[in-house]
Amino acid sequence: MHIMSTDRTSYKIRGKWDTTVGRKVVMAASGLLLIGYLIIHLAANLMVFAGDGGRLLNRYSYTLHQLGPLLWIARILLATFFLSHIISGIRVVIQNRRARSSRYAMAASKGGPSKMTVASRWMAITGLILLVFVPTHVWMFTLGPYYETVIDGVPMRDIYRLVVERFKNPVTAFSYAAVMLFLCLHLAHGFWSALQSLGALNRKWLPIAYTVGIVLGVLIAGGFFVLPIYTYFFIPMP
Ligand code: HEM
Repeated sequence: MHIMSTDRTSYKIRGKWDTTVGRKVVMAASGLLLIGYLIIHLAANLMVFAGDGGRLLNRYSYTLHQLGPLLWIARILLATFFLSHIISGIRVVIQNRRARSSRYAMAASKGGPSKMTVASRWMAITGLILLVFVPTHVWMFTLGPYYETVIDGVPMRDIYRLVVERFKNPVTAFSYAAVMLFLCLHLAHGFWSALQSLGALNRKWLPIAYTVGIVLGVLIAGGFFVLPIYTYFFIPMP
C-alpha cells in the first residue's frame, strides 16, 4: 500500500516535469541561473585587467577555496543547473524534431523554415559547442597545473599565472575568443526565450526582453572575448 502511494507520487512529480512545458520551464530556469553564474564569473575574471600581477585575482580565488564545503555546495548546484539545462534542452530538440517530421508526413511544408525554427536550430548548435567547451575549460583551469605564489606571507594557487600562460598560446586564445561568439548568440536568444517559456512576457515586454537579451549576450560574451585576446597581446608572463 505504502509502496503504491510512493510510486504514484513519483509518477506525479515526473509527469509534471516530463511534459513539453515542464521541460521548457526547467531549461529556462536553469538557463537564467547559469547566466547569473556567468555574470559573477566574468566579474571575477576581469580582475586579470587589474594590472597588479594577479594579486587581486589570486586572493579572490584563494578566498573562494577557503569556503571549503560551501564552495562544494555551490559547485554541485552549478553542475545540477548545467546538467538539467542540457538534458531538458536535448529532450526539447528531440521532441521538436519528432513534431516536425510528423507534420512533414502529413503535408509537405510550404516555404522555408520559420524564424523560430532557425533560432532553435542555432540554440542547439551553439549549445553543443558550449557543451564541448565547458568540460574542456574546467579541465584546463580548475584541474590544470598548480602553480604557487605567496601574497602577504600566505602561500596560494597562482591561478593568474595559469590564465596568462594559457592565453599566451595563440591556438587557445583565439579558439576561446571564437567560442565566445557562439556564447553571445546562445545568450542573446536564450534570455528572452527563457522569459517567454516562464510566461513572463506579453506583447509590451517581448521587444524589451529581446533587446536586453542582445545587450546581455554582447556584454557577457564580449567580456570573455576580450580577455584572451588582450592577454595574448598585452599581458606579460608573470
Ligand atoms: C576568457 C574566458 C574565461 C576565463 C579566463 C575563465 C577562467 C576560469 C578559471 C581561472 C577557472 C578556475 C577557477 C578556480 O579554480 O579558482 C574557471 C572555472 C570555471 N569556468 Fe571559466 N573562464 C572563462 C570563461 C568561461 C565560460 C564562458 C564559462 C561557461 C560557459 C565558464 C565556466 C566555468 C566553470 C563551470 C568553471 C568551474 C568552476 C569551479 O571549478 O568551481 N568559464 N574559469
